[in-house]
Amino acid sequence: MNLQTANEEWRADFPILNQKIYGQNLIYLDNAATTQKPRQVIECIEKVYSTVNSNIHRSVSKLGADCTREYENARATVGKFINAQSPREIVFTSGTTEAINLLAFAFGEKFVDEGSEIIVGESEHHSNIVPWQMLCIRKKARLRVLPFDDGGELKIEMLDQLINPRTRLLCIAQASNVLGTVNPLERIIEKAHNRGVAVLVDGAQGIQHLETDVQKMDADFYVFSGHKIYAPTGTGALYGKEKLLEQLPPWQGGGDMVQSVAFEKTVYADLPLKFEAGTSNYVGAIALGEALNYLTNKGLAKIHAYEKELTDYAMQEIAKIPDIRLYGASKNRTGIASFLIHNTHHSDIGEILDKMGVAVRTGRMCADPTVRHFGISGLVRASWTFYNTKTEIDRLCEALEKAVKMLK
Ligand code: ALA
Repeated sequence: MNLQTANEEWRADFPILNQKIYGQNLIYLDNAATTQKPRQVIECIEKVYSTVNSNIHRSVSKLGADCTREYENARATVGKFINAQSPREIVFTSGTTEAINLLAFAFGEKFVDEGSEIIVGESEHHSNIVPWQMLCIRKKARLRVLPFDDGGELKIEMLDQLINPRTRLLCIAQASNVLGTVNPLERIIEKAHNRGVAVLVDGAQGIQHLETDVQKMDADFYVFSGHKIYAPTGTGALYGKEKLLEQLPPWQGGGDMVQSVAFEKTVYADLPLKFEAGTSNYVGAIALGEALNYLTNKGLAKIHAYEKELTDYAMQEIAKIPDIRLYGASKNRTGIASFLIHNTHHSDIGEILDKMGVAVRTGRMCADPTVRHFGISGLVRASWTFYNTKTEIDRLCEALEKAVKMLK
């Protein structure tokens, strides 16, 4: 099957794509904000609620046992998808944001003191900045920033000066949600590890487009959101090397994260349940496993090859639009183009595109420092994935040219 035929087959799995918006075929190019869901994932949710729904890890009933097994199978699927050594290294969370907040608390309690330093990339999403700022305020620690150049590449050589004996953690995205840059993680992580510093990788914009092997990249922690990889909202995971997770205190207290509770002393559960207090979104987690199985069954190598072809085409076509200014010039990139055209306002462009059936994101992209780096107030962002087509990219470009003419 060639890539074109494969794309047609994949696309047919996503019911939402087959609809009209203001009388025109929907062209969904806001995949970096959230992805659409294949019917296999939608049906999985219905199936769990219709067949095995029962609270996990608690019930002696057959339903409870079946539901627990499906939840733990999903954990194993997540672990296998990112090549963790063990499912004990996978903590289900409500997404990237919760995973980073969990880590900022637990890692912060264990390893961060007054005067400690945490490094974040300048191009990080707010979710990989603000939790670390909050930790720094709480612990009187210092946040340091690894800058990026005007092409959107991190200035990795600056790590040599930034890292010092007070550095506790380096927090870097796998790929930028604004600039599309794929960060050279193996080099970055090697530099950090050579100086004894642990690394958190924010995979929110990477896992759905790139081969992700936490052992190969040697990440100490890795987080991602389910909703950006064709799974339901409110799902995601934190991966941590077992020897590190073992040392961290729990984040939230409650049911399921304990072995025993007495007023004198509570004994916490083993990994990973120590970090999963309360009734979790187990139906969502099972559907996350289904989404990852869907991708594995369709063939990740083929999906990545198609996306690369589409990205090369899109960047070439978008660059032809008169007066366009693209932000982020990395060759190694995901399917994201952020831009401004002429002197038009980003939100005006977005609204006109929407009326033509083309969904994009505009504004600051939850990444104020990245936008501020360029001295602008916001951007238009088109982001595509394996169910998008070259015809849709052509429609985007036509719509953009029309929008600019209307606004001139
Ligand atoms: N983090 C998502 C984005 O970049 C919402 O649009």
